[in-house]
Amino acid sequence: MSTSTRAEEPSQAVPAGRNVDRPVVFFDTTLRDGEQSPGISLNKSEKVEIAQQLVRLGVDVIEAGFPATSPGDFEAVQAIAREVTGAVICGLARCVESDIRTCWEAIKDAERPRIHTFVSTSDIHLEHQIKKTRAEVLDLTKEMVDLAVSLCPGDVEFSAMDATRSDVDFLAQVIQVAVEAGATTINVPDTVGYTLPAEFSALIETLHRKVPRLAEVVVSVHCHNDLGLAVANSLAAIEHGATQVEVAINGLGERAGNAALEEIAMALVTRKDVLQRPVNIVTTEIARTSRMVSNLTGYQVQPNKAIVGKNAFAHESGIHQDGVLKERTTFEIMHAKDIGLGESDIVLGKHSGRHALKARLAELGIHLTGEELDEAFRRFKVIADKKKQVTALDLEALANEEIREREDLYQLTRFYVSSGSDIIPTSQVEVLRQGEAQSGKAFSGGSVESIFLAIDDAVGLSGTLMDYRVRSVSSGKDSLAEVRVVVEVDGRTFAGQAVAIDVLGASAKAYMRALNNVAQHREASGARPDRVF
Ligand code: KIV
Ligand code: ZN
Repeated sequence: MSTSTRAEEPSQAVPAGRNVDRPVVFFDTTLRDGEQSPGISLNKSEKVEIAQQLVRLGVDVIEAGFPATSPGDFEAVQAIAREVTGAVICGLARCVESDIRTCWEAIKDAERPRIHTFVSTSDIHLEHQIKKTRAEVLDLTKEMVDLAVSLCPGDVEFSAMDATRSDVDFLAQVIQVAVEAGATTINVPDTVGYTLPAEFSALIETLHRKVPRLAEVVVSVHCHNDLGLAVANSLAAIEHGATQVEVAINGLGERAGNAALEEIAMALVTRKDVLQRPVNIVTTEIARTSRMVSNLTGYQVQPNKAIVGKNAFAHESGIHQDGVLKERTTFEIMHAKDIGLGESDIVLGKHSGRHALKARLAELGIHLTGEELDEAFRRFKVIADKKKQVTALDLEALANEEIREREDLYQLTRFYVSSGSDIIPTSQVEVLRQGEAQSGKAFSGGSVESIFLAIDDAVGLSGTLMDYRVRSVSSGKDSLAEVRVVVEVDGRTFAGQAVAIDVLGASAKAYMRALNNVAQHREASGARPDRVF
């Protein structure tokens, strides 16, 4: 058994499989790998909403989830498969017969379904994680890709997990077997974010040489960001024969995350002089998608994050400001409007009607009708009475609020807080559970704490607060407040986020939502195996 893990040096020639005219295939895994980030638990409506936005963004393939992990995951993938058109809908499955069959059941109603199955190929995983020999992995690959192809002919993706730490000859053998069994996409993941750009491009070239039939299929890469190299590695692979990139919005994903969709897309667009590959991504949808994912997952984007951080287009130093005022391109390589920033700001006021709200939401890509529109209008009126101008950002935040609450078990209907410099903060809350009112009260050292304790009292559930953050949705003293809380219950963390005109109201709703996530998890639990990577 060979133990070499090094690929050969990259050659200068244009590699096999590199077709410069074809758009790079964007495979988005925000809803699968991204959802595996600690504390994220999106419900079905939130996932469907994000999937619809991913279609508007021009993503080619949406990895909607991992159906075998729990009934909740299965239902969300099935809902996306049934409701979302305009992209391939993919489900993940281990190379395990029951996983693959369950995955197929979840995705089979999609306009264009894909089964994505994977098995580890590195000796370290074979020995310690899956406890299989190389021969067994080869057999399993053949058997499981055969099965996947029999269910979903024409679109099966196979991933060799931990490819970058695998013996390259064995990796090539496994890939050869998967291609011969009918896999149409072969994914080469850098599962632990270990590889370096030159090493990874050499690996992609070597695989092309060792498995000539790779020229017949899509060659994909899936890079994790443990060393901060996920985007660099993905771009290096594209230059050396990869035709698909697996990415997540805002770089979400296991540990340090996956390659950020927005960074790869903008690198391909901005440096097309060198990279020479078109994309189907509608870049003007990037900012909105990033905000939606950040809002619904509660993962805030760091201010200096490339492309979507709030400072990405801000110029602080005098020299830079002066330069940009004289000629924008002195210090800007991209335009904010290319990612959809800086469009229409002031949108509605308190005299605006239902039709105006509906039309404005539709312009933002949010289509509400019937009861959803009534509810959004009710919320809008409450806000518009207190705020002079309701901006596009406010409307997005309100619409996301509406989506989040669709599946809540408990609804916070009222809360009262008394607080001040000389009184002990005391709170009372009323919560509805399936139409039945439950009340709770508490006092404590701080007003926010007293609200959280009163909610614990009402629902009979208590979480340890691990994190609490407040930020303003827009600027101005009357801005909406967005609060994110993370609580720990039964050794797991659950997040909740909410937007309201008042910080205490947003805090109460965010905490309530975190407990809703706990309750939903308890209902669905029992079925979810440990996350496997
Ligand atoms: O990181 C990884 O290897 C994965 C695979 C399932 C593609 O997420
Ligand atoms: Zn991954």
